[in-house]
Amino acid sequence: MTQLLVDRFGRVHDYLRISVTDRCNLRCVYCMPEEGMEFEPDEKLLTFDEIASVVRVLAGYGVRKIRLTGGEPLVRKNLEVLVGMLSAIPGIEDIALTTNGIYFASRAEKLREAGLTRINVSLDSLRPDRFSLITRGGDLKRVLQGLEAAYRVGLDPVKLNVVLMKGMNDDEIGDFLAMTLERNIHVRFIEYMPIGHEDEGWRARYLPLTTVLERCAERGWKVDALEKPISGNGPSQNYRIAGAAGTFGLIHPVSDHFCQTCNRLRLTADGNIKPCLYWSDEFNVRRYIGDDEALAAMFFRALDVKPESHEMAQALLKQSQSHTPTIRRMSQIG
Ligand code: GTP
Ligand code: 5AD
Ligand code: SF4
Repeated sequence: MTQLLVDRFGRVHDYLRISVTDRCNLRCVYCMPEEGMEFEPDEKLLTFDEIASVVRVLAGYGVRKIRLTGGEPLVRKNLEVLVGMLSAIPGIEDIALTTNGIYFASRAEKLREAGLTRINVSLDSLRPDRFSLITRGGDLKRVLQGLEAAYRVGLDPVKLNVVLMKGMNDDEIGDFLAMTLERNIHVRFIEYMPIGHEDEGWRARYLPLTTVLERCAERGWKVDALEKPISGNGPSQNYRIAGAAGTFGLIHPVSDHFCQTCNRLRLTADGNIKPCLYWSDEFNVRRYIGDDEALAAMFFRALDVKPESHEMAQALLKQSQSHTPTIRRMSQIG
């Protein structure tokens, strides 16, 4: 029988998030500082061959689902090639992408042909000026073209990731929900997380997601809670407005963490296993690539220190936790 990647709390890990770059073509206000960041030099990034070797080994331990993230994964040249390499690995059933969508339209077909199965698109405003403000210069039109391309090549339903920020985009909740009425799309509202930058005005912008259900009630929309995940087994609680073609979800990484059912491990662009998004523990795998047993042993070591939960809110309030919170930002983790 296959040995599975089980941690101290009995959680089975069949999902690997792989960051292919820490670079991004945008600098969203909640993710990067205005002045940008220092990026990893190219030679520190895992090569496609190295990434495929890791996935091949983990597929032997029950990993079935891969998500390619960044930074923005499409700034990595020839990502289609990596998708093709990963989709050829026996046991890998799902290869998903989290993207800001800007470069997606022209790449959709090739990515699909290479074996991409799903995409999540980050989109925090449907108003061109505001979108440009939040992303510091992004062109909304291109994201919408990317979205259409995804539907054209059959990558539906697309999941939209909307990070809610008080006073910035919370007046658009109704517009995002309205998108689900006509189209098979899954709009996910995400709580703003203080990740790697808790001092920079996070508290002032943080908004609990109860607001979303209140907006539905204000519009007279009847909402049904859904039992089953939309696709994959992501962290969102899902709903459908009665009669709508699409669905929406709420992701509460801050107020109600979903660590009990966590099935994910992360591999950063510079080759570190990160067993938990919020903690600083990391294990570099680069030197073990080529030695399958040693590589697998590093993953089991990482699982051994994976915390039961992140207790982020408490940690921020009390500063009394057994692990050190991460200083990496989301774009450097993936
Ligand atoms: P699927 O459910 O497979 O579609 O993907 P996902 O939701 O896991 O991935 P995505 O990259 O779209 O991430 C969406 C949001 O989920 C992020 O903005 C985070 O808020 C949250 N998230 C992703 N991974 C983690 C995690 O490991 N821990 C916590 N607490 N939140 C996470
Ligand atoms: N809080 C919540 N979500 C975030 N993301 C990036 N930074 C944060 C944050 N501080 C989201 C992006 C993307 C997903 C991978 O993570 O919008 O959709
Ligand atoms: Fe899993 Fe850590 Fe994320 Fe919780 S915070 S869901 S334990 S990776």
